Amino acid sequence: MRELAQLPLDKAAFREKYGPWAVIAGASEGTGECYARELAEMGINLVLVSRRQPALESLGEALKAEYGIDYRVLAQDLTEDGAGLRIVAAAAGLDIGLYISNAGADGFASFFEDSTDAAHRLVRMNISTLIDAANGFGKGFLARCQNGQGRGGIIVMASGAGLGGQPNLVLYSATKAFEINFAESLWAEYHERGIDVIGIAAPIMRTPTLLRMVPEGFDVSDVYDPADVTHNALAGLLAGEPLQIIPDGPGQEKQPQVLADRKERLVGFVEFNKMFTGG
Ligand SMILES: NC(=O)c1ccc[n+]([C@@H]2O[C@H](COP(=O)([O-])OP(=O)(O)OC[C@H]3O[C@@H](n4cnc5c(N)ncnc54)[C@H](OP(=O)(O)O)[C@@H]3O)[C@@H](O)[C@H]2O)c1
Repeated sequence: MRELAQLPLDKAAFREKYGPWAVIAGASEGTGECYARELAEMGINLVLVSRRQPALESLGEALKAEYGIDYRVLAQDLTEDGAGLRIVAAAAGLDIGLYISNAGADGFASFFEDSTDAAHRLVRMNISTLIDAANGFGKGFLARCQNGQGRGGIIVMASGAGLGGQPNLVLYSATKAFEINFAESLWAEYHERGIDVIGIAAPIMRTPTLLRMVPEGFDVSDVYDPADVTHNALAGLLAGEPLQIIPDGPGQEKQPQVLADRKERLVGFVEFNKMFTGG
């Protein structure tokens, strides 16, 4: 698989800041399972959300046996109206410090030839559910006040497809662009108040969803290991970064500069905004 240098991660500091409970939307396999494993290893309890309850239960039981964590599961289709509100409700009474918006993949499609039903489902999963869940958990992070600062984090699994348009991925690219701007904007608004938010412009990774999606014979030897990407996402969150772009696809050699330019612009807007808010 393609190499990705692993960023350092202070696990005790991570648990202190984002524990004792985390919520993963899309947790049963792929990158969601990778997040669950690394968080459980750090001793963080988990609310596991996806459509297949038995898969969530068996993952939760395995992590409980291996790491001694507690877990809760919610069988919920993220493309349904009100899914984000139901995730927040399912975590009621728990001290949640981290929300991971993970599921969000889509297959290749031709926009004009297809109906818009699938497009609206993707909008609900990648936009409406994310808005409601982030808003609900973010209110909780503000309330976990320490020295006038909030405490908590949000990871938004986006995609390099969100950095610009792509054929046959019209809605995927558009909703991933929403996710990236959403994460950057929340970072700009809240990172000085103790709440961390990071968008991950993820590269092609060897997940079960990808393997189901690619045509027979597609060479998956040169794709990334999802556990490497999710580890760096956790490290990037704690490091206070707004965005990670993992080099991938045409023009990938320019992506470090794209990342630096986006950060510079965002930091500039944080200062610019203070003229209006008096901050
Ligand atoms: N894999 C890649 O190459 C790649 C590349 C760039 C970005 N990404 C991004 O990385 C994230 C994870 O990707 P992935 O490849 O692991 O596939 P994914 O299909 O987005 O995520 C799989 C996980 O999400 C759950 N899930 C999928 N659809 C769901 C729905 N409608 N409602 C509730 N849960 C749902 C699945 O469990 P259930 O089946 O139990 O519901 C599974 O646990 C996505 O946001 C994707 O856009 C992936």
